[in-house]
Amino acid sequence: MAKRRRLVVGNWKMYGRLTSGLVLARELADKIAAKKPLNFDIAVCPPATLTWPVSEAIMGSPLLLGAQDCHHATHGAYTGDVSAAMFADLGCRYVILGHSERRLAHQETNELISKKVAAAQLAGLTTIVCVGETEEQRTSAKTVEVIEQQLRASLPEKNQIAQLVVAYEPVWAIGSGQQPEIKDIESVHQTIRKALGAAGEAVQVIYGGSVTPQNAGSILENQEVDGVLVGSASINGDGFWAIAEKCR
Ligand code: PGA
Repeated sequence: MAKRRRLVVGNWKMYGRLTSGLVLARELADKIAAKKPLNFDIAVCPPATLTWPVSEAIMGSPLLLGAQDCHHATHGAYTGDVSAAMFADLGCRYVILGHSERRLAHQETNELISKKVAAAQLAGLTTIVCVGETEEQRTSAKTVEVIEQQLRASLPEKNQIAQLVVAYEPVWAIGSGQQPEIKDIESVHQTIRKALGAAGEAVQVIYGGSVTPQNAGSILENQEVDGVLVGSASINGDGFWAIAEKCR
């Protein structure tokens, strides 16, 4: 089977104003332009306010654009929300869904996430669906059970496998500086792929949680890891690029 292409995604979270966001986007576009050919995909997911300015700034660059969340409806009386179609309209290719910060702080359920996945795929976006166990679930050896359950319940019935990326993000590893051992990442990625069935072989399964330029090399060396979802280290151009360059 053909090797899966690697994918590096920067999740800027709620960081960045117009000027700093544009500087970062342009810096990355320049670094990418200097590296030809690019043998991996790279995307940034800025806050919603920066979607359009960043989109304009990177037009024509292989740097891809994503959103951090979307609503499950195409349009309607949903004050403060943004639909997948609106993000697609601005040039987004990806949307992160089911991030633990949304599952926890916004009480997003698997059921809601599956509706968002369906809406985003319908709008033509590739959905980066996040799954991951909490510290408590990990210590009580429930990781596999939790991941399988989240995956089953967060994907819609009509899931389009070609528009799916799964991000394994242990909740306890996000922003904590902590990380699972590589063999544990490998085994969860295998679990994810198995849970996706025969079509799972083609799906990119990426890892997220305290990825840094220092540890990215050993994570990306593993053949079960098809890329990384980077939070805090993605808002520094040199740091994020140093991580991306580990995709060989
Ligand atoms: P982190 O965040 O890299 O800052 O741990 C990862 C994420 O939340 O996607």
